[in-house]
Amino acid sequence: MSATIIDGKAFAARLRARIATGVAEFHAEAGRAPGLAVVLVGEDPASAVYVRSKGKATRDAGMQSIEHRLPADVPAETLLALVADLNADPGVDGILVQLPLPKHIDAQTVISAIDPDKDVDGFHPINAGRLATGLPGFVPCTPLGCLMLLKSIHPKLSGLEAVVIGRSNIVGKPMAQLLLAESCTVTIVHSRTHDAKAHVRAADIVVAAVGIPQMVTGDWIKPGATVIDVGINRTEAGLVGDVDFASASQVAGAITPVPGGVGPMTIAVLLRNTLVSAARREA
Ligand code: GUN
Repeated sequence: MSATIIDGKAFAARLRARIATGVAEFHAEAGRAPGLAVVLVGEDPASAVYVRSKGKATRDAGMQSIEHRLPADVPAETLLALVADLNADPGVDGILVQLPLPKHIDAQTVISAIDPDKDVDGFHPINAGRLATGLPGFVPCTPLGCLMLLKSIHPKLSGLEAVVIGRSNIVGKPMAQLLLAESCTVTIVHSRTHDAKAHVRAADIVVAAVGIPQMVTGDWIKPGATVIDVGINRTEAGLVGDVDFASASQVAGAITPVPGGVGPMTIAVLLRNTLVSAARREA
C-alpha cells in the first residue's frame, strides 16, 4: 500500500490566494494595507533566508512588509525599544522577532514585550494561555498549518488517537493543544519517553516535530495512519524530515513530504494571522 501524499505546497498556494483576496478587500475598506513587521537580529544564514521569504510572501499578498535588521551585538534594550515602537505603530498589525536570538538576549523577555494582539507568531504567554483555555487569540503558525493539512484528510478528528513527537513551545505543545481542542486523545512523546515507538504505533495521527533526521521509520507507523512531518533537517543526503519517508509512506494512509509538506504552510499561516490581526484591529 502506498500513502496519499499531502501536498502542502499546493494547499499553501490556495491559502495564499484566498488571503490576497482578503487583503485587497481589507485595503479597499480600511484605506491601508495590513502591515507585518519582521525583526532580524544578527547574521544567522538560515534566519536571513526565512526573513527574506517572509518579506516576499508578505508583499506578494498585497501587505506591507516592514523589515528591521539589527547587528548581532545589539543591546537587549535597543531591541525592546524597537518592539515598543512597533507595538505603538498603528500601521503595524503583526510583529515577528525571528528566533533564535543571540545568546545575550533572553528570547522570552522579548516575546513577552510584544503586544499579544500583534503577536502573529502566537508565542506570547497570553496567547499560549488563550489557546490552552479555548479563548480567541493567535495560534503558532506551524502547528496551525499542520492542523489545516490534517483536516484535509480527517474533516472530523474527534476521538482519534494522536501522538505529537516533541514538546517545544513553538510546535509540540501548541500542536497538542490544537489536537485536544479537536477532541483527539493526545499523547506527547519526548526525549525521556520510555518506549516512543509503542506510543507512535498506536496512533491514528502522528505529528513529528523533534528535529532528529528520519527518526520515525515505517515499522513505527500504524497501517493507514496519517503522518505529518514538521522536521527540516539538513544532512549530507540533503533536506530530510523527522520521518523516513521511503518506509513510512509504504505503511501510512497519508503523509506529508519534506520538502513540500508542512514547510510552505508556515508562511501562509503567518500571512493569515496578520490579515486576521488587521481585521480585528479595524473592527
Ligand atoms: N524561527 C524558526 N521558526 C520561527 C517562527 O515560526 N517564528 C519566529 N519568530 N522565529 C522562528
